[in-house]
Amino acid sequence: MTPLNIVILAAGKGTRMYSEMPKVLHALAGKPLIQHVLDCASELKPRQICVVYGHGGEAVPKAMQQYAARFVIQEPQLGTGHALQQAMPHLDDDSLTMVLYGDVPLIQYSTLHQMAQAGNGLVLLTVHLANPAGYGRIVRDAQGDVLSIVEEKDATPEQREIQEVNTGILLAPTKSLRAWLAKLQNNNSQGEYYLTDIVCMAVQQGIVVHTVQPVHEWEIHGINSKSQLAVLERTWQLVAASRLLVQGVTIADPARIDVRGKLSCGRDVEIDVGCIFAGEVSLGDNVRVGAYSVIRNASIGEGTEIAAYSHIDSSEVGAHCHIGPYARLRPGTRLHDGVHIGNFVEVKNSEIATQSKANHLSYIGDSSVGSRVNIGAGTITCNYDGVNKHRTIIEDDVFIGSDTQLVAPVTVGRGATIGAGTTVWKNAPAGELTMNDKTQSIKPGWKRPQKVKK
Ligand code: UD1
Ligand code: CA
Repeated sequence: MTPLNIVILAAGKGTRMYSEMPKVLHALAGKPLIQHVLDCASELKPRQICVVYGHGGEAVPKAMQQYAARFVIQEPQLGTGHALQQAMPHLDDDSLTMVLYGDVPLIQYSTLHQMAQAGNGLVLLTVHLANPAGYGRIVRDAQGDVLSIVEEKDATPEQREIQEVNTGILLAPTKSLRAWLAKLQNNNSQGEYYLTDIVCMAVQQGIVVHTVQPVHEWEIHGINSKSQLAVLERTWQLVAASRLLVQGVTIADPARIDVRGKLSCGRDVEIDVGCIFAGEVSLGDNVRVGAYSVIRNASIGEGTEIAAYSHIDSSEVGAHCHIGPYARLRPGTRLHDGVHIGNFVEVKNSEIATQSKANHLSYIGDSSVGSRVNIGAGTITCNYDGVNKHRTIIEDDVFIGSDTQLVAPVTVGRGATIGAGTTVWKNAPAGELTMNDKTQSIKPGWKRPQKVKK
């Protein structure tokens, strides 16, 4: 197979975003627009990827430095043809070149693969639109062969009636492309070097122009404004929701779920309204996620219930756990099976073994908690001395009374009981009751203050 080079044009200003940030770095589904394109391009396993950038200084190459792509600056920006010219010195003559756009984020592998299969001539990705306004039109002859692309601003009234439009995405032999681009002129209504003018040149040389249509229309939508971004975000979220529905996931309202990454679900998973899934999230069989929960980079074991308004970040939750409502699991939390974490409980960088419970109003940080431990309401691990963090160790079968402070570093031995309201600042021995000496005094005859009348 002929090797493939991919050029991503991303030098446009993005004036209508009204933002300091380059347009292609704005996020869709939690990921910069250009990163969607880079990920899709990478799937095609090209020999090289070249990104043409312009506005925003080095912001784009810096943000995308994890990709093995070459970044070429286009300064000034004199049109799409001029943009591609900047990449040409870096492309291989024995390859095919595919042109993608940093602001057309949802192009899919299947469509590009279809283009790669379409032959070694010039391949255009075109689409029929009910409202073709703003796009370049595909002009064909009586036989239906492509003759040229005419930009809307340069089109005759008859040409403007054409509903088949240029998506901008194309594929051509690099050698031919190099020759065509060298001949581009800017004698058009916008004074730009139009990439689209290469179509005429190909036709003049008797090269057949193939056209391919995208599998989905949303694949070719470009982003020029925040409103287009918001519309495409919703389109994409509906696509993500319907893919989950097809797999058998129950989604209370497909219009009220946001997947900003990869969500994988087992069987009989239920997701209530308003949930956000970010990064890589996996939900095991029979997991239920309550309304307005936010889950990022986490795995949730089978049969676990996450009640409403819970936040889970970079955590591992076992099977048959109960989390929330209003629970917060911060990075480094590892809950084994059957753990209960209730309302207003925050857990950070801690491991909690099977069947332990912290049901109300607690902070568990930098801790190792054994099995069958009961942590009473209002218990706090004092893990920070103002300078350093210390660990709290709570062994199996411990019972911690409400409103206890565990001043780390400290260990509560197996089977120990801590009386309510205790400040544990020395290790509590296994099997014993530990409590602070407290007195409870009574003031006989004491009266509540009375309201003073003015
Ligand atoms: C272009 C096509 C048009 C097509 C439309 C699809 C040309 C001449 N016209 O028009 O046929 O229907 O896209 O959206 O190609 N860019 C650069 N450097 C530049 C100019 C543009 O990198 O100097 C990039 C932009 O960042 C953008 C893309 O190229 O991603 C398209 O540029 P834009 O100016 O929006 O082209 P259109 O006029 O919309
Ligand atoms: Ca455009």
